[in-house]
Amino acid sequence: MKRKGHSYFIVITMGIGLLVMAVLYGTINSQLPDPYGLRKTDYRLLGRPLYKLDISWPKYTEHFTGDVFGVAVNHLAGLVYVAQRGDNVPKVLVFSTDGEFIQAWNTTTLEMPHGIFLANASNNPTVWITDVGNGPYGHSIKQYSPSGKLLQVLGSAGQAGSGVNPLQFDQPAEIFVHSSGEIYIVDGDGGMNNRLVKLSKELQMIWMHGEKGSGMAQFYIPHSVTVDNYQRVWVADRGNKRIQVFNAVTGDWLGSWGSCFTEDAPYSVRLTPDQKYFVVVQLNTNQISLLEAPPVGVIGQCRVVSVIQLAEDIKPHLVDLDLKTGALYVAEIGAQQAQKFTPFTLGGGFL
Ligand SMILES: *[C@@H]1O[C@H](CO)[C@@H](O)[C@H](O)[C@H]1NC(C)=O
Ligand SMILES: *[C@@H]1O[C@H](CO)[C@@H](O)[C@H](O)[C@H]1NC(C)=O
Repeated sequence: MKRKGHSYFIVITMGIGLLVMAVLYGTINSQLPDPYGLRKTDYRLLGRPLYKLDISWPKYTEHFTGDVFGVAVNHLAGLVYVAQRGDNVPKVLVFSTDGEFIQAWNTTTLEMPHGIFLANASNNPTVWITDVGNGPYGHSIKQYSPSGKLLQVLGSAGQAGSGVNPLQFDQPAEIFVHSSGEIYIVDGDGGMNNRLVKLSKELQMIWMHGEKGSGMAQFYIPHSVTVDNYQRVWVADRGNKRIQVFNAVTGDWLGSWGSCFTEDAPYSVRLTPDQKYFVVVQLNTNQISLLEAPPVGVIGQCRVVSVIQLAEDIKPHLVDLDLKTGALYVAEIGAQQAQKFTPFTLGGGFL
């Protein structure tokens, strides 16, 4: 009897707890009308509401003809580059941040785009793309003009390898080009390499961590990389379900976050323009999570502040942020589209 009373008590307490959570978190279920009948727009917000879907972006979705793997934003030009895969489809689509379709790249030099990065927005913008394909342009990282003219190839195109001099890659996952011109590369997306490489502006190796494993500064499928304003490098170490942090100057290991990713690995790592939050995508659980970015020097434990819970099978992969407005763009492999989320506060700032 006493036992039974006890379990009723637990059930009731749990019920009340769930109710309170539902009320507190103000679960917003957005089933917006879809004027085009194509968009997959269901999502819920959990935790602090920071972003809402911009249903009007892009204006027409029929331009998405492949599987969308990556996005990159030029906040000064107001342009969004969307990388997609598929046979006989343009590999890069360019939209305005207002949702107008601008152009499709007419290049035959991309096999299977993975990571995409907009460098040098203020001066002479270029688009960097990592290619994980097996064709003659695969296993390389390429720099393009804003309209898709191939400018430079890093790595021995078409040839997977682990070489350092000259550089070779095997399914390079993502590149981050700092405003200083220094380059950070994670290689790769499930190939023979598990490396984080830092190159100088002149493409000389500055430091590298290249060991496969689950220990400190070892990787298993390093998938995304970004650098914060405090010279810390953040790597989504997908296969190990953690984010690892390094000193950008010395390459020293600074810490690791795992407790937020027990259910699903981090696929992306990017920062909001105010450097307050990391934007981390989890593909299998269909989530875009915002994590508190720790102050200088302290890595500590990770804390999820807000979650955009997408519908099943959306499969978000990589993200990028508009550094002017804070808008968040996400590449969705399963939904075969890119979506835009805008900050709740007016003017793009965060409360
Ligand atoms: C696209 O490329 C093909 C061959 O490379 C060329 O013939 C064609 O004119 C190009 N189209 C545009 C719009 O640039
Ligand atoms: C940006 O472009 C300018 C002008 O071409 C160039 O001098 C500079 O090195 C570039 N910076 C980066 C980070 O690529």
